[in-house]
Amino acid sequence: MKAVQIVELSGPDSALRVEDLPEPEASHMLTPGAGVVVDVHASGVSFPEVLQTRGEYQMKPALPFVPGSEVAGIVRTAPEGAAVKEGDRVAAFCVLGGFAEVAVAPEFLTFPLSDALDFAQGAGLILNYHTAWFALRLRGRLKEGETVLVHGAAGGVGTAALQVAKGLGARTIAVVSSDEKEQVARAAGADEVVRADGSWKDEAKELSGGGVDVVLDPVGGDRFLDSLRSLREGGRVVVVGFTGGSIPEVKVNRLLLNNTEIVGAGWGAYVMPKPDVNREIGAAVNRLVDEGTARPPVGARFAPEQAADALKLIDGREATGKVVLEFRP
Ligand SMILES: NC(=O)c1ccc[n+]([C@@H]2O[C@H](COP(=O)([O-])OP(=O)(O)OC[C@H]3O[C@@H](n4cnc5c(N)ncnc54)[C@H](OP(=O)(O)O)[C@@H]3O)[C@@H](O)[C@H]2O)c1
Repeated sequence: MKAVQIVELSGPDSALRVEDLPEPEASHMLTPGAGVVVDVHASGVSFPEVLQTRGEYQMKPALPFVPGSEVAGIVRTAPEGAAVKEGDRVAAFCVLGGFAEVAVAPEFLTFPLSDALDFAQGAGLILNYHTAWFALRLRGRLKEGETVLVHGAAGGVGTAALQVAKGLGARTIAVVSSDEKEQVARAAGADEVVRADGSWKDEAKELSGGGVDVVLDPVGGDRFLDSLRSLREGGRVVVVGFTGGSIPEVKVNRLLLNNTEIVGAGWGAYVMPKPDVNREIGAAVNRLVDEGTARPPVGARFAPEQAADALKLIDGREATGKVVLEFRP
Protein backbone atom coordinates (compact mmCIF):
# COMPACT_ATOMS: atom_id res chain seq x y z
CA MET A 1 0.00 0.00 0.00
CA LYS A 2 1.01 3.60 -0.47
CA ALA A 3 1.93 5.37 2.79
CA VAL A 4 3.66 8.53 3.94
CA GLN A 5 6.38 7.93 6.51
CA ILE A 6 8.37 10.21 8.79
CA VAL A 7 11.93 9.00 8.15
CA GLU A 8 13.92 11.69 10.00
CA LEU A 9 13.20 14.48 12.51
CA SER A 10 14.17 17.39 10.29
CA GLY A 11 10.88 19.30 9.97
CA PRO A 12 8.03 19.21 7.40
CA ASP A 13 10.24 20.07 4.41
CA SER A 14 12.46 17.00 4.52
CA ALA A 15 11.16 14.52 7.11
CA LEU A 16 8.56 12.76 4.93
CA ARG A 17 8.83 10.04 2.30
CA VAL A 18 6.16 8.22 0.27
CA GLU A 19 6.77 4.46 0.47
CA ASP A 20 5.21 1.19 -0.65
CA LEU A 21 4.60 -0.71 2.62
CA PRO A 22 2.89 -3.98 3.64
CA GLU A 23 -0.74 -3.53 4.71
CA PRO A 24 -1.32 -3.55 8.49
CA GLU A 25 -2.76 -6.52 10.45
CA ALA A 26 -6.23 -6.22 12.01
CA SER A 27 -4.74 -5.23 15.37
CA HIS A 28 -4.38 -1.86 17.10
CA MET A 29 -1.99 -0.94 19.93
CA LEU A 30 -4.97 0.11 22.11
CA THR A 31 -6.84 -3.15 21.36
CA PRO A 32 -4.11 -5.73 20.63
CA GLY A 33 -5.36 -8.56 18.42
CA ALA A 34 -8.40 -6.57 17.28
CA GLY A 35 -9.11 -3.49 15.21
CA VAL A 36 -11.27 -2.08 12.46
CA VAL A 37 -9.41 -2.15 9.13
CA VAL A 38 -10.33 0.84 6.97
CA ASP A 39 -9.74 1.49 3.26
CA VAL A 40 -8.70 5.09 3.63
CA HIS A 41 -10.19 7.75 1.37
CA ALA A 42 -8.98 10.81 3.28
CA SER A 43 -6.56 11.39 6.17
CA GLY A 44 -6.76 14.38 8.49
CA VAL A 45 -3.61 16.46 8.92
CA SER A 46 -3.11 18.36 12.17
CA PHE A 47 -0.65 20.22 14.37
CA PRO A 48 0.71 17.06 16.05
CA GLU A 49 2.05 15.76 12.71
CA VAL A 50 3.97 19.01 12.24
CA LEU A 51 5.46 18.54 15.71
CA GLN A 52 6.17 14.86 14.97
CA THR A 53 8.35 15.78 11.98
CA ARG A 54 10.61 17.58 14.48
CA GLY A 55 10.39 15.01 17.27
CA GLU A 56 8.61 17.64 19.39
CA TYR A 57 5.34 15.80 20.07
CA GLN A 58 4.74 13.94 23.33
CA MET A 59 4.38 10.63 21.45
CA LYS A 60 7.75 9.72 19.90
CA PRO A 61 7.54 6.43 17.91
CA ALA A 62 10.75 4.85 16.61
CA LEU A 63 11.71 5.94 13.07
CA PRO A 64 10.54 5.36 10.45
CA PHE A 65 6.82 5.49 11.22
CA VAL A 66 3.55 6.36 9.46
CA PRO A 67 1.93 9.37 11.15
CA GLY A 68 -1.73 10.32 10.80
CA SER A 69 -4.20 10.19 13.67
CA GLU A 70 -7.54 10.11 11.88
CA VAL A 71 -9.06 8.90 8.64
CA ALA A 72 -12.34 8.53 6.81
CA GLY A 73 -13.05 5.61 4.53
CA ILE A 74 -14.82 2.30 4.14
CA VAL A 75 -14.61 -0.60 6.56
CA ARG A 76 -12.79 -3.61 5.13
CA THR A 77 -13.10 -5.78 8.25
CA ALA A 78 -14.39 -5.19 11.77
CA PRO A 79 -14.05 -7.30 14.93
CA GLU A 80 -17.06 -9.15 16.31
CA GLY A 81 -19.30 -6.92 18.42
CA ALA A 82 -18.18 -3.70 16.71
CA ALA A 83 -20.83 -1.08 15.96
CA VAL A 84 -19.63 -0.89 12.33
CA LYS A 85 -19.32 -3.59 9.67
CA GLU A 86 -17.69 -4.30 6.30
CA GLY A 87 -18.73 -1.74 3.69
CA ASP A 88 -19.76 0.99 6.16
CA ARG A 89 -18.58 4.57 5.63
CA VAL A 90 -16.74 5.58 8.81
CA ALA A 91 -14.63 8.22 10.52
CA ALA A 92 -11.93 6.53 12.59
CA PHE A 93 -9.24 7.66 15.01
CA CYS A 94 -6.18 5.48 14.51
CA VAL A 95 -3.67 7.51 16.64
CA LEU A 96 -0.87 6.70 14.14
CA GLY A 97 -0.77 5.08 10.70
CA GLY A 98 -3.45 7.25 9.08
CA PHE A 99 -1.29 8.60 6.23
CA ALA A 100 -1.77 5.34 4.31
CA GLU A 101 -4.16 3.57 1.93
CA VAL A 102 -5.13 1.16 4.73
CA ALA A 103 -5.33 2.02 8.44
CA VAL A 104 -6.48 0.32 11.66
CA ALA A 105 -8.48 1.88 14.50
CA PRO A 106 -9.96 0.57 17.76
CA GLU A 107 -13.68 -0.22 17.40
CA PHE A 108 -14.55 2.31 20.13
CA LEU A 109 -12.87 5.07 18.08
CA THR A 110 -14.63 4.17 14.81
CA PHE A 111 -17.92 5.93 14.09
CA PRO A 112 -20.51 5.69 11.30
CA LEU A 113 -20.05 8.58 8.84
CA SER A 114 -23.22 10.32 7.70
CA ASP A 115 -23.91 10.50 3.96
CA ALA A 116 -24.24 14.26 4.50
CA LEU A 117 -20.43 14.47 4.79
CA ASP A 118 -17.82 13.58 2.17
CA PHE A 119 -14.70 11.64 3.17
CA ALA A 120 -12.56 14.77 3.48
CA GLN A 121 -15.07 16.20 5.97
CA GLY A 122 -15.14 12.83 7.73
CA ALA A 123 -11.37 13.05 8.17
CA GLY A 124 -11.95 16.31 10.05
CA LEU A 125 -14.60 15.05 12.41
CA ILE A 126 -12.98 13.23 15.30
CA LEU A 127 -9.94 15.15 16.54
CA ASN A 128 -11.55 18.57 16.18
CA TYR A 129 -15.24 17.93 16.97
CA HIS A 130 -14.68 15.40 19.74
CA THR A 131 -12.14 17.78 21.29
CA ALA A 132 -14.55 20.70 20.92
CA TRP A 133 -17.40 18.76 22.55
CA PHE A 134 -15.13 17.46 25.32
CA ALA A 135 -13.61 20.90 25.97
CA LEU A 136 -16.80 22.95 25.81
CA ARG A 137 -19.40 20.61 27.26
CA LEU A 138 -17.58 18.19 29.57
CA ARG A 139 -14.74 20.43 30.79
CA GLY A 140 -16.11 23.95 30.23
CA ARG A 141 -19.69 23.07 31.26
CA LEU A 142 -21.02 25.33 28.48
CA LYS A 143 -24.80 25.73 28.67
CA GLU A 144 -27.55 26.96 26.40
CA GLY A 145 -27.74 30.75 26.38
CA GLU A 146 -24.11 31.28 27.45
CA THR A 147 -21.50 33.14 25.40
CA VAL A 148 -18.23 31.53 24.34
CA LEU A 149 -15.16 33.25 22.93
CA VAL A 150 -13.11 31.01 20.60
CA HIS A 151 -9.43 31.75 19.83
CA GLY A 152 -7.88 30.45 16.58
CA ALA A 153 -11.48 30.35 15.39
CA ALA A 154 -10.73 29.72 11.70
CA GLY A 155 -8.55 26.71 12.52
CA GLY A 156 -9.55 23.08 12.85
CA VAL A 157 -10.41 23.07 16.56
CA GLY A 158 -11.73 26.63 16.28
CA THR A 159 -14.27 26.04 13.50
CA ALA A 160 -15.41 22.84 15.24
CA ALA A 161 -15.83 24.74 18.51
CA LEU A 162 -17.97 27.41 16.81
CA GLN A 163 -20.31 24.72 15.50
CA VAL A 164 -20.41 22.61 18.66
CA ALA A 165 -21.15 25.75 20.71
CA LYS A 166 -23.99 26.59 18.34
CA GLY A 167 -25.32 23.06 18.72
CA LEU A 168 -25.30 23.55 22.49
CA GLY A 169 -27.35 26.73 22.08
CA ALA A 170 -24.53 29.13 22.94
CA ARG A 171 -23.58 32.45 21.33
CA THR A 172 -20.11 32.62 19.80
CA ILE A 173 -17.43 35.31 19.46
CA ALA A 174 -14.59 34.29 17.13
CA VAL A 175 -11.04 35.68 17.44
CA VAL A 176 -9.06 35.60 14.16
CA SER A 177 -6.00 37.25 12.62
CA SER A 178 -7.00 38.12 9.01
CA ASP A 179 -9.86 38.98 6.64
CA GLU A 180 -9.71 35.52 5.07
CA LYS A 181 -9.95 33.86 8.48
CA GLU A 182 -12.83 36.17 9.41
CA GLN A 183 -14.74 34.83 6.39
CA VAL A 184 -13.98 31.24 7.40
CA ALA A 185 -15.18 31.87 10.96
CA ARG A 186 -18.37 33.51 9.72
CA ALA A 187 -19.01 30.65 7.30
CA ALA A 188 -18.53 28.24 10.23
CA GLY A 189 -21.34 30.06 12.02
CA ALA A 190 -19.64 32.64 14.28
CA ASP A 191 -22.14 35.18 15.65
CA GLU A 192 -19.47 37.84 16.11
CA VAL A 193 -15.87 38.12 14.89
CA VAL A 194 -13.09 40.17 16.52
CA ARG A 195 -9.42 40.60 15.58
CA ALA A 196 -6.52 39.03 17.46
CA ASP A 197 -4.40 42.16 16.94
CA GLY A 198 -7.17 44.57 18.02
CA SER A 199 -8.92 45.37 21.29
CA TRP A 200 -10.70 42.00 21.23
CA LYS A 201 -11.00 41.76 25.02
CA ASP A 202 -12.95 45.03 25.31
CA GLU A 203 -15.06 44.18 22.26
CA ALA A 204 -15.87 40.76 23.69
CA LYS A 205 -16.91 42.31 27.01
CA GLU A 206 -19.16 44.75 25.20
CA LEU A 207 -20.65 42.16 22.84
CA SER A 208 -21.41 39.83 25.76
CA GLY A 209 -22.84 42.51 28.02
CA GLY A 210 -20.08 42.41 30.65
CA GLY A 211 -18.00 39.30 30.00
CA VAL A 212 -18.10 35.90 28.34
CA ASP A 213 -18.94 32.66 30.14
CA VAL A 214 -16.33 30.48 28.47
CA VAL A 215 -13.10 31.08 26.54
CA LEU A 216 -11.87 28.17 24.42
CA ASP A 217 -8.13 28.60 23.97
CA PRO A 218 -6.08 26.49 21.52
CA VAL A 219 -3.54 29.36 21.13
CA GLY A 220 -2.15 30.32 24.58
CA GLY A 221 0.77 32.76 24.52
CA ASP A 222 0.46 36.47 25.28
CA ARG A 223 -3.30 36.70 24.99
CA PHE A 224 -4.02 34.43 27.95
CA LEU A 225 -4.21 37.22 30.52
CA ASP A 226 -6.74 39.10 28.42
CA SER A 227 -8.74 35.88 28.07
CA LEU A 228 -9.06 35.77 31.86
CA ARG A 229 -9.98 39.46 31.92
CA SER A 230 -12.72 38.92 29.33
CA LEU A 231 -14.64 36.52 31.62
CA ARG A 232 -17.73 37.36 33.61
CA GLU A 233 -18.07 36.14 37.21
CA GLY A 234 -18.09 32.34 37.22
CA GLY A 235 -16.47 32.24 33.77
CA ARG A 236 -14.08 29.50 32.63
CA VAL A 237 -11.01 29.57 30.35
CA VAL A 238 -10.59 26.13 28.81
CA VAL A 239 -6.95 25.40 27.89
CA VAL A 240 -6.73 23.31 24.71
CA GLY A 241 -3.38 24.08 23.09
CA PHE A 242 -0.47 26.43 22.49
CA THR A 243 -0.20 27.21 18.78
CA GLY A 244 0.97 30.70 19.78
CA GLY A 245 4.21 29.05 20.82
CA SER A 246 4.46 29.86 24.53
CA ILE A 247 2.78 28.37 27.59
CA PRO A 248 1.24 31.17 29.65
CA GLU A 249 1.69 31.59 33.41
CA VAL A 250 -0.85 33.39 35.62
CA LYS A 251 -0.99 34.70 39.16
CA VAL A 252 -3.87 32.80 40.69
CA ASN A 253 -5.08 35.76 42.78
CA ARG A 254 -6.81 36.84 39.55
CA LEU A 255 -9.05 33.78 39.83
CA LEU A 256 -9.89 34.55 43.44
CA LEU A 257 -10.61 38.23 42.82
CA ASN A 258 -13.04 37.58 39.95
CA ASN A 259 -14.35 34.11 40.88
CA THR A 260 -13.21 32.55 37.65
CA GLU A 261 -11.65 29.22 36.63
CA ILE A 262 -8.95 27.86 34.36
CA VAL A 263 -9.78 24.35 33.18
CA GLY A 264 -7.49 21.97 31.29
CA ALA A 265 -8.92 19.91 28.41
CA GLY A 266 -6.69 17.13 27.09
CA TRP A 267 -9.03 15.05 24.96
CA GLY A 268 -6.77 12.12 24.06
CA ALA A 269 -5.44 11.37 27.54
CA TYR A 270 -8.95 11.53 28.99
CA VAL A 271 -10.91 9.51 26.44
CA MET A 272 -8.48 6.81 25.26
CA PRO A 273 -8.96 4.58 28.32
CA LYS A 274 -12.75 5.22 28.38
CA PRO A 275 -14.55 3.51 25.47
CA ASP A 276 -17.98 4.55 26.77
CA VAL A 277 -17.06 8.23 26.89
CA ASN A 278 -15.90 7.96 23.26
CA ARG A 279 -19.18 6.39 22.22
CA GLU A 280 -21.12 9.12 24.05
CA ILE A 281 -19.13 11.91 22.41
CA GLY A 282 -19.36 10.14 19.03
CA ALA A 283 -23.14 9.96 19.33
CA ALA A 284 -23.35 13.63 20.37
CA VAL A 285 -21.18 14.75 17.44
CA ASN A 286 -23.14 12.59 14.98
CA ARG A 287 -26.35 14.20 16.31
CA LEU A 288 -24.87 17.60 15.45
CA VAL A 289 -24.07 16.27 11.96
CA ASP A 290 -27.64 14.99 11.54
CA GLU A 291 -29.05 18.35 12.71
CA GLY A 292 -26.88 20.09 10.11
CA THR A 293 -24.84 22.00 12.74
CA ALA A 294 -21.54 20.15 12.32
CA ARG A 295 -20.09 20.58 8.81
CA PRO A 296 -16.28 20.37 8.92
CA PRO A 297 -14.90 23.06 6.59
CA VAL A 298 -12.14 21.52 4.47
CA GLY A 299 -9.60 24.27 3.79
CA ALA A 300 -7.13 22.32 1.65
CA ARG A 301 -6.80 18.89 -0.01
CA PHE A 302 -3.48 17.37 -0.99
CA ALA A 303 -2.23 14.19 -2.67
CA PRO A 304 -0.07 11.98 -0.39
CA GLU A 305 2.99 13.05 -2.45
CA GLN A 306 2.30 16.64 -1.32
CA ALA A 307 2.13 15.85 2.39
CA ALA A 308 5.01 18.24 3.12
CA ASP A 309 2.97 21.11 1.65
CA ALA A 310 0.02 20.15 3.84
CA LEU A 311 2.19 20.29 6.97
CA LYS A 312 3.83 23.55 5.92
CA LEU A 313 0.42 25.18 5.51
CA ILE A 314 -0.34 24.43 9.16
CA ASP A 315 3.17 25.32 10.32
CA GLY A 316 2.96 28.69 8.53
CA ARG A 317 -0.34 29.68 10.21
CA GLU A 318 -2.03 29.67 6.80
CA ALA A 319 -4.37 26.70 7.23
CA THR A 320 -8.09 27.23 7.63
CA GLY A 321 -10.58 24.58 8.69
CA LYS A 322 -9.30 21.03 8.09
CA VAL A 323 -6.32 20.06 5.96
CA VAL A 324 -6.56 16.57 4.41
CA LEU A 325 -4.56 14.09 2.31
CA GLU A 326 -6.70 12.27 -0.25
CA PHE A 327 -5.71 8.63 -0.80
CA ARG A 328 -8.71 7.67 -2.98
CA PRO A 329 -9.92 11.01 -4.40
N1 LIG B 1 -6.25 19.49 24.07
C1 LIG B 1 -6.61 18.65 23.14
O1 LIG B 1 -7.15 17.60 23.43
C2 LIG B 1 -6.33 18.97 21.70
C3 LIG B 1 -6.98 18.29 20.68
C4 LIG B 1 -6.77 18.68 19.36
C5 LIG B 1 -5.88 19.72 19.09
N2 LIG B 1 -5.23 20.32 20.12
C6 LIG B 1 -4.30 21.45 19.90
O2 LIG B 1 -5.05 22.59 19.56
C7 LIG B 1 -4.24 23.45 18.80
C8 LIG B 1 -4.99 23.93 17.58
O3 LIG B 1 -5.10 22.86 16.66
P1 LIG B 1 -5.79 23.12 15.24
O4 LIG B 1 -5.82 21.82 14.56
O5 LIG B 1 -7.04 23.89 15.41
O6 LIG B 1 -4.69 24.05 14.54
P2 LIG B 1 -4.91 25.04 13.30
O7 LIG B 1 -6.02 24.59 12.43
O8 LIG B 1 -3.56 25.24 12.69
O9 LIG B 1 -5.38 26.41 14.00
C9 LIG B 1 -4.62 27.03 14.97
C10 LIG B 1 -4.88 28.53 15.02
O10 LIG B 1 -3.98 29.07 15.98
C11 LIG B 1 -3.78 30.43 15.67
N3 LIG B 1 -2.40 30.83 15.90
C12 LIG B 1 -2.02 31.84 16.68
N4 LIG B 1 -0.70 31.96 16.68
C13 LIG B 1 -0.21 31.00 15.87
C14 LIG B 1 1.09 30.64 15.45
N5 LIG B 1 2.19 31.28 15.90
N6 LIG B 1 1.23 29.59 14.60
C15 LIG B 1 0.17 28.91 14.16
N7 LIG B 1 -1.12 29.22 14.53
C16 LIG B 1 -1.29 30.26 15.37
C17 LIG B 1 -4.16 30.62 14.22
O11 LIG B 1 -5.28 31.48 14.20
P3 LIG B 1 -5.12 33.05 13.96
O12 LIG B 1 -4.11 33.21 12.86
O13 LIG B 1 -6.49 33.47 13.57
O14 LIG B 1 -4.67 33.60 15.27
C18 LIG B 1 -4.59 29.25 13.73
O15 LIG B 1 -5.72 29.31 12.90
C19 LIG B 1 -2.94 22.69 18.52
O16 LIG B 1 -1.97 23.10 19.45
C20 LIG B 1 -3.33 21.27 18.77
O17 LIG B 1 -2.22 20.46 19.12
C21 LIG B 1 -5.45 19.98 21.41
